[in-house]
Amino acid sequence: MADKLFIFDTTLRDGEQVPGCQLNTIEKIEIAKALEKLGVDIIEAGFPVSSPGDFNSVVEISKAVTWPTICALTRAVEKDIDVAGESLKHAKKGRIHTGIGTSDYHIQYKFKSNKEEIIERASRAVKYAKKFVEDVEFYAEDAGRTDNVYLAKVIEVVIAAGATVVNIPDTTGYCLPQEYGEKIRFLKENVKGIDKAIISTHCHNDLGMATANTIAGILNGARQAEVTINGIGERAGNTSLEEVVMALRSHKEVNIDTGVNSQNIYSISRQVSTLMNMPVQPNKAIVGRNAFAHSSGIHQDGVLKHRENYEIIDPKDVGIAESSIVLTARSGRAALKHRLEVLGYDYGDQEFDKIYEEFLLLADRKKDLKDEDLAQLVGNISHKESRIKLEFLQIVSGKGIKSMASVKLNIGGEFFDATSGGNGPVDAAIKAVKSIIKRKVILEEFLIQAITRGSDDVGKVHIQVGHKDRIYYGFGANTDIITASVEAFIDALNKIPAKM
Ligand code: KIV
Ligand code: ZN
Repeated sequence: MADKLFIFDTTLRDGEQVPGCQLNTIEKIEIAKALEKLGVDIIEAGFPVSSPGDFNSVVEISKAVTWPTICALTRAVEKDIDVAGESLKHAKKGRIHTGIGTSDYHIQYKFKSNKEEIIERASRAVKYAKKFVEDVEFYAEDAGRTDNVYLAKVIEVVIAAGATVVNIPDTTGYCLPQEYGEKIRFLKENVKGIDKAIISTHCHNDLGMATANTIAGILNGARQAEVTINGIGERAGNTSLEEVVMALRSHKEVNIDTGVNSQNIYSISRQVSTLMNMPVQPNKAIVGRNAFAHSSGIHQDGVLKHRENYEIIDPKDVGIAESSIVLTARSGRAALKHRLEVLGYDYGDQEFDKIYEEFLLLADRKKDLKDEDLAQLVGNISHKESRIKLEFLQIVSGKGIKSMASVKLNIGGEFFDATSGGNGPVDAAIKAVKSIIKRKVILEEFLIQAITRGSDDVGKVHIQVGHKDRIYYGFGANTDIITASVEAFIDALNKIPAKM
């Protein structure tokens, strides 16, 4: 049986420290529940002494979540530990995560202290935390730049004081994978009592090596990895949960696995991105828009012949329905034929040759071709006929009243009106549009971004709409955010082929 790697998710603590990513308690509970469903072992729910909001979130997440351990962060300060202990009262399994900086930088410039005093403070903090919970994790902040011999001394003392988990953070993302791996091995081989505690990795991504360092730590004996969804976190971020989980799943020979239900990865990635206002970069490993998209003809042909020719992960394993074949001027015949078949068109060789020629001409003019372009190309629909346009939108919304939206759509020259209520102005407007178009569509993702920083900003809205197992992307930009939302929704609707 594979060795177990514990997944410690810190999206709600280290991830939430990012400016602009702050969540309210309700949103944090939503994410905590999704993390529970994902199968993480530990949820770091906040830094309770830092604000009443953080304290309250730890309390409420402790109540809302059943299986994962709930962890609260502290400095090696009694007041912090008192507050963390109090915040964890309702946790079925609670952990206090306390610690102190151990690198020369931190000892000299942050604490203006010395090595002996730091060891003493570390030990005292762990003993004090044990009064509140049995499960105490110690972090040696900036362990990445801490001398290994001194680090081993600190770790030995905190384990003797009762630490159940010892966290070795590469706080500044400085280490090289080999160096970080050796650090973990050094602790495994030189710390008395190391088998009484679990060694944890906590890597930052300043040099783009957070996942590589985490894997190096695991290969050298760490059995807990501290990670965030989409790799969000301070500066360049933390190690991505999805990358560690899928690296271990893809390399079965390592014989180490997590309890993560990987099919939930994509949905939680989008949920975190939407709630935290942090778009996922298109080329992000595992969860980026392009992670399973193939655009060159050679790759498309290869994937269509046998998926594993160009994919090491089945997209379904991370909750993505299918790989996507992006049609561009570089796409080959196989890709076009496949797409047309998916859309329900079937042509003999001669007819197809003609369509392919026209496709290449069109593809030269357009960056990438959507299903509606193909439908037009094969003469099945006229672009004009299929187009839905927003003619009119009026919103009534405010404090203490139910939001109402009236819309008028122009669909292929015919006009349709509808009015609907909703639990907010966007919800009301989208419901009104849905009542006209009468198609079964699901709003899968909704992301609002401001283009600049003032109140006269143009708001950009990105939307993903699900229809019959496929996702359609829509975009809208307007100084009025409700109009931008409705336009993004309609943009996505216009991409659903008329035949479907
Ligand atoms: O990066 C770090 O060192 C941390 C600790 C507080 C665990 O986030
Ligand atoms: Zn960190």
